[in-house]
Amino acid sequence: MRDRFGHHVSYLRVSVTDRCNERCRYCMPDELQEWMPRVDVLTFTEMLRLVRVAMRLGIDKVRVTGGEPLTRAGVVEFLSELAQIDGLRHLGLSTNGTLLSRGKLARQLRDAGVSSLNISLDTLDRGMYQKITGRDFLPRVLDGIEAAREAGFPQVKLNAVLMRGINEGELLRLVDFAAEKNALLRFIELMPVSTAEVLSEANFLPVNEARRHIEREYGALIPRPDFRTNGPATYYQIAGRNQRIGFIGALTNLHFCETCNKLRLTCDGKLRPCLGSHLEYDIMGPLRDGASDDELRQFFLEVVARKPERHDFRDNYQPHRRMIAIGG
Ligand code: 5AD
Ligand code: SF4
Repeated sequence: MRDRFGHHVSYLRVSVTDRCNERCRYCMPDELQEWMPRVDVLTFTEMLRLVRVAMRLGIDKVRVTGGEPLTRAGVVEFLSELAQIDGLRHLGLSTNGTLLSRGKLARQLRDAGVSSLNISLDTLDRGMYQKITGRDFLPRVLDGIEAAREAGFPQVKLNAVLMRGINEGELLRLVDFAAEKNALLRFIELMPVSTAEVLSEANFLPVNEARRHIEREYGALIPRPDFRTNGPATYYQIAGRNQRIGFIGALTNLHFCETCNKLRLTCDGKLRPCLGSHLEYDIMGPLRDGASDDELRQFFLEVVARKPERHDFRDNYQPHRRMIAIGG
């Protein structure tokens, strides 16, 4: 699927739930802490049908997100069914990592056919972790990262949201931790995705500043434009170390949207062509009204045709929809 601006859409992110066991300040501010009624959330059967339709249109990578996807009952079976769909080249899962060490969950995910795990980790300081996420779960996350390694995930990705005055002093520790765990660390600029208050002049830390901060310790980082994952991160390498670090400059990188290949399906059945735009189209309605595969395919094509050239984050974007429901 190609849009008006030459974006080649091949990547679908599916949010399976708006629920979460954490309360990250940038994702779930107090005023947005209310769950959706279950009937408003797509069933796994409905999600599978939509993914199959999308795959007929050239989607070959799927990432499952939330909320916290691992809080939804039956998610392992769902992932396993997804992994078995013909033509799926990559099945990722984004998680806060708090449940990975429970039972044999990490191993079950690997066995289900999940190809990669992205785990959120903004700090290695327990008190700070609790302040950011509202929960004292850092030890569980660290166990979760270990469990993922033991389960044989090739290279776990660690995502750290940059917040000035909060985790600014943690960057080097995170870099060293990632090296020690053979994980791929990415720093992400704070985005105004839940309420306008999430992002302020005071707490925004641009990726270039984070990079300079790391360079003061490790010397100039070497750009690695040849190294790409599925997303919009720009990678650099630490000289003399076999470690790459990603920077996701959602707000300051002016080329950020040029290579966008994504489409999002929210847990309440909306297709969203861009995270940073209000555009969203309800596909649950037609789906529950008995639309044929052809009609659903047409729906996807129309949404892709409306994919904007770039996000509106810089232009006074007023979100008021939780990241959690949209699927980071
Ligand atoms: N800005 C940037 N990243 C965010 N995430 C959640 N909310 C925001 C935000 N406002 C991240 C989480 C997780 C991923 C799914 O999205 O930290 O790594
Ligand atoms: Fe939960 Fe992730 Fe949102 Fe934090 S950012 S509240 S872990 S969904």
